[in-house]
Amino acid sequence: MDFTLTEEQLMVQQAARDFAQNELLAGIIERDDAQQFPTEQVKKMAELGFLGMMVDSKYGGSGLDTLSYVLVMEELSKIDASSSVIVSVNNSLVCWGLEAFGSEAQKEKYLTKLATGEIIGAFCLSEPEAGSDATSQKTTALDKGDHYILNGTKNWITNGNSAEVYLVIAQTDIEKGHKGINAVIVEKGMEGFEIGPKENKMGIRSSDTHSLIFNDVKVPKENRIGEDGFGFKFAMKTLAGGRIGIAAQALGIAAGAYELALKYSKERKAFGTEIANHQSVAFKLADMHTKIQAARHLVYKAAWDKDNGNNYDLSGAMAKLYAAETAMEVATEAVQIHGGNGFVKEYHVERLMRDAKITQIYEGTSEIQKIVISRSILKG
Ligand code: CAA
Repeated sequence: MDFTLTEEQLMVQQAARDFAQNELLAGIIERDDAQQFPTEQVKKMAELGFLGMMVDSKYGGSGLDTLSYVLVMEELSKIDASSSVIVSVNNSLVCWGLEAFGSEAQKEKYLTKLATGEIIGAFCLSEPEAGSDATSQKTTALDKGDHYILNGTKNWITNGNSAEVYLVIAQTDIEKGHKGINAVIVEKGMEGFEIGPKENKMGIRSSDTHSLIFNDVKVPKENRIGEDGFGFKFAMKTLAGGRIGIAAQALGIAAGAYELALKYSKERKAFGTEIANHQSVAFKLADMHTKIQAARHLVYKAAWDKDNGNNYDLSGAMAKLYAAETAMEVATEAVQIHGGNGFVKEYHVERLMRDAKITQIYEGTSEIQKIVISRSILKG
């Protein structure tokens, strides 16, 4: 086993660390308060190649491995999980899905722009009545020969308003259940496609989350991804990789909160000494550090599985489950170590605690990860 990062991985990690410190930290409290999308920061991340990290350079991507992507997600998320979810959705759910399963024409038309970050994309699976129960799609894409007619509503869509390209999962043939589901590419501005109001969220407040409404939207057949009926498998395969990205986000949130708590505990004095000298604080730090390291090993292993052509459904689900639970726990303890200061915005840990919560919910709740894990271990 070799736990050393390559020169290239170390460089990419450092670039993300510098970017987060120099470009994401400034104005973060204001962006969070105002729910302001980080437009300028996304542009700069595109210039750094962070929006199409794993895409082949022939489509404009950075051609890096999953571990490099995870390292970037971790560093960005230490500071700004709103920006990192934009990166994660564009990389794992949109670019990866298109590169793996899209036609050459779709790659030429969409992937080349998405991978360079000239435009960003959204992944549209969740519905008012189909969150965890993802096969219960009510959005329909009815087959009309050379096109589909799309009707329905999608909920909680990341990049909902800022995206230009939307990968939409919809039911074509209800009789066939999940085998009658398709994934189609919808462009912003198509007639009948409306963007609903922005959600007012607890955390990751500067990422824009919207519902989307499709009213008789005519989508050409050439915009279907893969064979007829491949849509649900497309969503599941894409989400399996997405979960590694969100696991890395959770890891970064935990590590960011821990680093702040560690620093604070060496500065803040109580009862005549730095609070780190009190065992109640030192033991908290020990637990936080240990859990973060365990989460890191799970996340890197899942990335390694993906890079080495192994199945990563199980390792990705375990990484997401453990990293998300760790993020919530560590961020909450980081607030506790900060005491009263932890409860005010200037110290950043309360935002990380609010941001941590979503990692237990999106791209499959912690309970859904346990379904994936238990099914995998029970089938042997
Ligand atoms: N790869 C390939 N195929 C898969 C798969 C995978 N990882 N997982 C399931 N499938 C296939 C199954 O093999 C099955 O196909 P067959 O019938 O041909 O064998 C089919 O999909 C249906 O699978 P199940 O019978 O297991 O379906 P289920 O109804 O029991 O649900 C589930 C399985 C794992 C619970 C799934 O519904 C699920 O993942 N739910 C959570 C959805 C989710 O993660 N939503 C997140 C929204 S996206 C988001 O949050 C993005 C964002 O904005 C940040």
